[in-house]
Amino acid sequence: MRYFIVIGNPISHSKSPEIHHHFAQSANIAISYERQFCPNDKDTFMAVVQSFFKGGGTGANVTLPFKQIAFELCQTFGQLSAHAQTARAVNTLYLKNGQLYGDNTDGIGLCYDLKRVLAWHNLGDLTGKHMLILGAGGATRGIIAPLIDAGVAHITIANRTKERATQLLNEFAIYRSKLSQASFEALGGHFDLIINATSATTTGQALSLPKTLSTDCAYDLMYGKPSAFLAGFDKPTVKQDGLGMLIAQAAFSFERWTGIGVDELDLPKLLNKQFK
Ligand code: ATR
Repeated sequence: MRYFIVIGNPISHSKSPEIHHHFAQSANIAISYERQFCPNDKDTFMAVVQSFFKGGGTGANVTLPFKQIAFELCQTFGQLSAHAQTARAVNTLYLKNGQLYGDNTDGIGLCYDLKRVLAWHNLGDLTGKHMLILGAGGATRGIIAPLIDAGVAHITIANRTKERATQLLNEFAIYRSKLSQASFEALGGHFDLIINATSATTTGQALSLPKTLSTDCAYDLMYGKPSAFLAGFDKPTVKQDGLGMLIAQAAFSFERWTGIGVDELDLPKLLNKQFK
């Protein structure tokens, strides 16, 4: 038996145990995967992580509000993957050579799901796509590098607070030729893809986007709540919530922990299952 947890606050809504048990079943291995509530403070989070791995745990997922704290923990006491370093956030923890190791599978999970959605609707691949990302918070920071690695031609970042977008672009100066910034008010025209990486769907707020904005595919990183962002687009725009990203990022965590590849999990079949 291998032991896993997902640490968050709140955590009772998490679909991760259900998803990982599907993976374990399809890979024919025995696992225990539990939700772990943690009070919202750094010291308690560190104690939870330490006691879990000391007690023989194999891997932990980290969700809100602990992804940055997990990053800091690995930065101080362990090691970080390249994706976790650029995201400055960790969603996957395990031990590597006896040391705490932090990875981030959110970005590659998103790319996997976007490729699936685009292919399903005959919209090609991510290669050469011109994208718009709404928001310049932690969620956006985690997806920029994986999207560019996947071959995206250009990403425009629009944020309500312009200074935050400028700051993010400065952080990603190495990709300067592929990134630009636009204000919400100045947005318009057609993008191959538009991603909502703001937290507006979580808080039930509408984004005030110009009517002249159009896209082949609108993707909300959030799931499980009505999205005013997605509702703002009409056919033939493909509209997708972030449930597929959730399942795909989980599959990449599972791969890191068990060595069982995403291809062996028959992920396309699992992505079509309903976890709602
Ligand atoms: P996360 O880690 O989920 O990205 P975050 O770092 O708090 O969370 O960032 C939230 C993002 O959603 C920010 O880009 C925020 O815009 P501001 O920087 O202007 O605050 C954006 N956001 C949240 N609510 C929004 C709304 N109603 N309209 C537009 N943008 C919104």
